[in-house]
Amino acid sequence: MSNVDAAPRTYQYLTLERQDAVCVLTLARPEKLNALNQALLAELDHAVDALRADATLRVIIVTGAGEKAFVAGADIGELAVLDTRGAEAASAFGSRVFRKLETGPQAVIAAVNGFALGGGCELALACHIRLASENAKFGLPEVGLGIIPGYGGTQRLPRLVGLGLASELIATGRMVDAAEALRIGLVNRVVPQAELLDEARKMAGVIAANAPLAVAAALEAARRSLDVDLDQGLRFESTLFGILGSTKDMHDGLSAFVEKQKAKFEGR
Ligand code: COA
Repeated sequence: MSNVDAAPRTYQYLTLERQDAVCVLTLARPEKLNALNQALLAELDHAVDALRADATLRVIIVTGAGEKAFVAGADIGELAVLDTRGAEAASAFGSRVFRKLETGPQAVIAAVNGFALGGGCELALACHIRLASENAKFGLPEVGLGIIPGYGGTQRLPRLVGLGLASELIATGRMVDAAEALRIGLVNRVVPQAELLDEARKMAGVIAANAPLAVAAALEAARRSLDVDLDQGLRFESTLFGILGSTKDMHDGLSAFVEKQKAKFEGR
């Protein structure tokens, strides 16, 4: 993981809009359908470090600028000039950035507002929860370009929709619309585009009101469930359960219920 300076800065291709404990992170290169060039990815890397370090932030909403695209993939022009070493490094860097987003202390919601292709689909897959607008389209078209998904698509898509369907989508490059994405479990919910961000903010508010360390631990345990056998997973869950036993939030949350109050969690 990179250790870039996580101090506040302005970005060319990102906007960050903070409201209470929720930050909307918008990828903003709309003239290229928010395609991920190296400059944008480097900014994302920096922003993710800064967001992860923010102890008062509970939820990140990731979306794309404009009404047409979430992210239309890695920047194809930049990929075209890479040699073997450069291609591997580019893939590893994007993967690392997405993994940092996925494994940080905040819950991450993708608000997919249009095309989510290639790296855009992979970015959505790296988020914990996916909401989509009715015009959203998902796909991994890489093999039609002579490459493969390089930011985690071959690993996360089978985990989400099953190996058979993922294999079809990866090998054909076929796009799925929002209705099909919902049916196959690729997205959690589909809403009209005008309501997408409100819906994401509403869900973020619910998550943000819960105990933050518990949310982070529960998401981590759920994520691990895909990588370990059941006994290991159950042990890991119990370990995290035990760790939470030392938090003030657990005490406050349980006592508040007994006293018929609503707990106000502090994240400690
Ligand atoms: N990389 C670089 N530029 C991209 C891009 C990408 N992945 N996706 C779109 N763009 C650019 C286009 O080149 C175009 O730029 P220009 O106006 O300077 O020519 C601009 O974004 C608008 O895209 P355009 O193709 O004109 O829009 P459209 O509505 O006709 O088609 C898509 C939309 C998403 C179907 C089409 O842009 C597309 O297929 N993009 C590539 C998707 C892809 O293969 N992604 C995986 C990459 S690994």
